[in-house]
Amino acid sequence: MISVALLGFGVIGSGTAEVLTQNKSLIAARLGDTIEIKYILDLRDFPDSPFANLVVHDIAPILADDEVSVVVEMMGGLHPAYDFSRAALEAGKHVVTSNKAVVAAFGEELLALAEERGLRYLFEASVGGGIPIIRPLCTDLAPCDITGIEGILNGTTNYILTRMAESGASFADALAEAQALGYAERDPSADVDGWDTARKICILSALATGKIPTLEQIYVEGITRVTTADIAHAKQAGYAIRLIGTAELVGDQPRVMVCPRWVHASSPLATINDVFNGILVRSDFLGDVMFYGRGAGSLPTASAVVADILDIAGGSPCKPPRWTAAADGELASHDSYVCRRYLCFSAAQGWRDAVCAALGEVEYLDTEGCEVALLTAPMREDEAKAAIDTLAAAGITLLSSMRLIKSTN
Ligand code: HSE
Repeated sequence: MISVALLGFGVIGSGTAEVLTQNKSLIAARLGDTIEIKYILDLRDFPDSPFANLVVHDIAPILADDEVSVVVEMMGGLHPAYDFSRAALEAGKHVVTSNKAVVAAFGEELLALAEERGLRYLFEASVGGGIPIIRPLCTDLAPCDITGIEGILNGTTNYILTRMAESGASFADALAEAQALGYAERDPSADVDGWDTARKICILSALATGKIPTLEQIYVEGITRVTTADIAHAKQAGYAIRLIGTAELVGDQPRVMVCPRWVHASSPLATINDVFNGILVRSDFLGDVMFYGRGAGSLPTASAVVADILDIAGGSPCKPPRWTAAADGELASHDSYVCRRYLCFSAAQGWRDAVCAALGEVEYLDTEGCEVALLTAPMREDEAKAAIDTLAAAGITLLSSMRLIKSTN
């Protein structure tokens, strides 16, 4: 019998207890052993829960109990989640986590500590919720060199962008809808400003390249400035707008970015709607492979948590991943990034000659009203910025700017 302690009995913690209980005999048959929840650590009591008698408010008895071999951290936030994870490893226990913030900030240290102690630190549920992505990257894709990852990694923003396209709703209205349905937090900034996606793509980049950037080292832009006009222009031209986390190798330097992008209808990423997530991984031998499914929610995320517990219980044949912090010089520069762009300007007097001089040949999408919408040829970031500045100096104001995804270039 494998005894586990759950840290946190919120959405994912209670889902994990439910998966372990409901599928107890199926899991036992597959594993050849049983998994028992021995403790649930939370600040609150749950008198009406069937797990009420397992609830403790102090980590000490869990750390002192030699029968507990796996600690499952689902608390969220950096502290005390990190501190408890470290203490559990120091006490000789394997750790499973769904906490992307801890993995992104302290993964290097906790993975090293786990390896030093002959333990595992697993985090499948930290990226893409229930979608298997971490383990496939470490196992099935191990023979391949991963050259790029493009991911829709946040369900809340994907729901908002889907609703804006379907119903013509404004960003504010679609956000209010997402909040009413319980997808978006009351303070939605981690989702809509791109930080949740950023943490997830940093983790995926670390697995693919062995280097993890900090959030400060990468370009992060959320979806708050996406307008109904942008959505209409994209739709008319055969594109969807999606918040995409990208990680690519430029030579041996990773480049990691988060921003809303135009995704051509022919891309599998354009078909990912509502709260679903999708991750396209590009590699030398396998080519493109796509992972799709529920990126959030209690039971889907819990299924990834339990998969990690089973991995530990069954004894994984694979070497655990390791990464180190990326120094500034080890990351590809943002200025040299090349892609096509959607630009929308106010149509001031003389705009056509000015646009032609600043941007060269472009594909016009809309020149009828008081706005000019177009797609540029592939341009470097610094060149695009210089062209936009030149147009602004001529009184042609930028209203919107969005990158196309690479596979659409
Ligand atoms: N807020 C996140 C999302 C939850 O909307 O995808 C999963 O990390």
